[in-house]
Amino acid sequence: MKYSDINFNNKTILITGGAGFIGSSIAFYLQDNYPDVNIIIFDCFRNNEFLPNGNLLSYGHYKNLIGFRGEVICGNINSKDDLSLLSNYKFDYIFHQAAISDTRAYNQEMVMKTNVNSFYDLLKIAKKNQSVMVYASSAATYGGLPSPQVVGNESPENPYGYSKLLMDQIAFRYANENPNMTIVGLRFFNVYGPREFYKAKTSSMIIQLGHQILANKSPRLFENSNKILRDFVFIEDVVQANIKACNVKSNGTYNVGTGISRSFKDIIDILQKELTTSLNIEYFPNPYDGYQLNTQADITLSKENFQYDPVFSLEQGIKSYLPEIKRLYGEDMQ
Ligand SMILES: NC(=O)c1ccc[n+]([C@@H]2O[C@H](COP(=O)([O-])OP(=O)(O)OC[C@H]3O[C@@H](n4cnc5c(N)ncnc54)[C@H](O)[C@@H]3O)[C@@H](O)[C@H]2O)c1
Repeated sequence: MKYSDINFNNKTILITGGAGFIGSSIAFYLQDNYPDVNIIIFDCFRNNEFLPNGNLLSYGHYKNLIGFRGEVICGNINSKDDLSLLSNYKFDYIFHQAAISDTRAYNQEMVMKTNVNSFYDLLKIAKKNQSVMVYASSAATYGGLPSPQVVGNESPENPYGYSKLLMDQIAFRYANENPNMTIVGLRFFNVYGPREFYKAKTSSMIIQLGHQILANKSPRLFENSNKILRDFVFIEDVVQANIKACNVKSNGTYNVGTGISRSFKDIIDILQKELTTSLNIEYFPNPYDGYQLNTQADITLSKENFQYDPVFSLEQGIKSYLPEIKRLYGEDMQ
């Protein structure tokens, strides 16, 4: 299914972070719909580096790219030498997804360098090539602000959310200084779906709870989880947003969610219904400060300015994701 009337055939497209969840999903969408597209993925993949919180520094995984026929460059967005490998291309579109994507990465220097400093370099590449730039921002920019979250009112509560807000501010200035460029930031809410598995503990609760239930274990939730709400958005709708954003009416930062918030308990209820189980939920105290209690994207402007139209309810998203959740059950994450 094509989301846009842009013909991406014979276009050259850079996807940073293309070995990760969202980047690889964009790559496969383009490859499947435009046989003559030229896609260049730039990703540092995973190595043995860990954040102080015990999670991997980067989550790119070759298994997300099996079947991908475009070019893959292993490089780090923090390295000018690595970025110079991109100087021989003329990109029509850039989907910039590479980042420290872990909301609990608290080494501020590391998060700012990777997420913020590199953005200047990627914007320079976009300017030189006159590429359309669509980059990943995040709902983490809103912190604990009440729902619905609206662009223009932000209060990040972790270095990650702050780094994404800085990117939005940089994009705003850059777009003003370069009015001929197209620069769009997309604030993804809680994305779930195929190709997130290798994000391990930072993958969505949908796959994590799905695997707990498949193991016949009590699914575990924080206390008061029926009051903790999130805007869970299925990967296909996020790909749709990225593609449609290439035709945005005006530069800016836009929300990408469903516009509806659901509880973590809803996820378990849907999974148990689909898997015909009735396991008791085990509740435990929430150890985190600054935990968002309710996110719900205001998507009015995304609808108006690039015809974003999310189609997957949580029920539909989980249902179409379940075969993949089952396939990955027991799979090695390394
Ligand atoms: N998944 C979500 O729910 C969500 C929500 C809001 C925002 N986002 C943002 O969307 C983007 C994609 O997220 P994702 O869920 O696909 O995460 P992901 O971790 O699967 O993908 C990020 C990719 O970037 C790569 N990367 C990390 N550091 C790099 C570096 N220094 N140089 C080159 N590559 C590097 C990783 O290897 C990985 O493949 C990220 O910018 C993330 O912050 C995601």
